[in-house]
Amino acid sequence: MNAPLRHPAEAVDAQRGYMSGFGNEFATEALPGALPEGRNSPQRVAYGLYAEQISGTAFTAPRSHNRRSWLYRIRPGAVHRPFTPLMPLMPLTARASRLVADFGAVPPTPPNQLRWDPLPMPAEPTDFIDGWVTMAGNGSAASMSGCAIHLYAANRPMTDRFFYNSDGELLIVPQHGRLAIATEMGRLEVEPFEIAVIPRGVRFAVDLPDGEARGYLCENFGALLRLPDLGVIGSNGLANPRDFLTPHAAYEDREGPFELVTKLNGELWRADIGHSPLDVVAWHGNYAPYKYDLRRYNTIGSISYDHPDPSIFLVLHAPTDTPGVDSIDFVIFPPRWLAAENTFRPPWYHRNIASEFMGLVHGVYDAKAEGFVPGGASLHNCMSGHGPDAETFEKASNADTSKPHKVGDTLAFMFETRTLIRPTRYALEAAELQANYYQCWQGLTKHFNPEKQ
Ligand SMILES: [Fe+2]
Repeated sequence: MNAPLRHPAEAVDAQRGYMSGFGNEFATEALPGALPEGRNSPQRVAYGLYAEQISGTAFTAPRSHNRRSWLYRIRPGAVHRPFTPLMPLMPLTARASRLVADFGAVPPTPPNQLRWDPLPMPAEPTDFIDGWVTMAGNGSAASMSGCAIHLYAANRPMTDRFFYNSDGELLIVPQHGRLAIATEMGRLEVEPFEIAVIPRGVRFAVDLPDGEARGYLCENFGALLRLPDLGVIGSNGLANPRDFLTPHAAYEDREGPFELVTKLNGELWRADIGHSPLDVVAWHGNYAPYKYDLRRYNTIGSISYDHPDPSIFLVLHAPTDTPGVDSIDFVIFPPRWLAAENTFRPPWYHRNIASEFMGLVHGVYDAKAEGFVPGGASLHNCMSGHGPDAETFEKASNADTSKPHKVGDTLAFMFETRTLIRPTRYALEAAELQANYYQCWQGLTKHFNPEKQ
């Protein structure tokens, strides 16, 4: 069940237990005095803790982009047995198809519009890590450039198993079921309509309060996600920094036969570890997990005519070295009023240089009357023509635009990238790929009449 849409004022309780602000220099301790004063690496840390730095950007990155945190923990992150490949434990076919991190090695990318039904929930007990499947992406983890787009579906909590991703930061978009994410820097709970971002390297385990969960992942190999500049919009609007929430320090002092899993260059590796790595008693810095409630997004649109480019719906982006050109744009299509007059109000027909992978969290997307369902996905690659289906075109062409219209109970999103989004073999051969997707535009008949203006 999806949570109902709620007004931001009703969600105040959800903010308790977190620290507020995007990319802040946070300081948090689960025991009083655990954080050193005036230095990061004292000769002896309080409570017998070890000091450890985790950096998410180059040491010499400009101050405005530099991200790192200092962790004060029961044991350093280095304390575990050697890693060995996890995948030989799985069937060879699963190894060949489930995870992809090099998108130069996938099948030829078809120029067709592509759309998928939701993947089924797993039949076997499957935790958050085992439940990933790579649908598409670009660049490669090894080159630290581009992204991978995965779907996840899980029905088993990670109890004695912990994970960190060496390949990139993880943008998690739940579609069904809550995720309780215990990280080494604190605990987050996210539900559909919210997102979480887990930085590269941060260790975590995922519990499933609703017994099962499904959603989307954008794994960012490149520059870290950040809030976009606002230009002429001004100092407020879109996703406001205050609404990004980071957990307080929380630790567990737990010993046992646990497993530490990491993904490096697309391969899963496992190591025995005799204690919980979620043992950080205090931390400070600006490299930390965070969550954001998409219902708090301040949606901006036209109040005269036409609708702006979808960049007006940008939540977070990963920039490249080229100004204004991002490697990832995370864009949402949330509930909003449409007020543009004498205007075709749905998205116009378009072909873009950018490539677009879309998902639907809830409701109906306003450019497609049917076929695009919650949990499903679509992919419109560079210069692939797309836009409203025939039914939506007819309806919008004849709608009364003298009155505003609320696009209410919906939340769609897009991972948009500067380079081609290349579907994996799994995605191209999946039973869920809709062979008839192209038909939604075949009903767009000729209206042209040179005698009638
Ligand atoms: Fe599009």
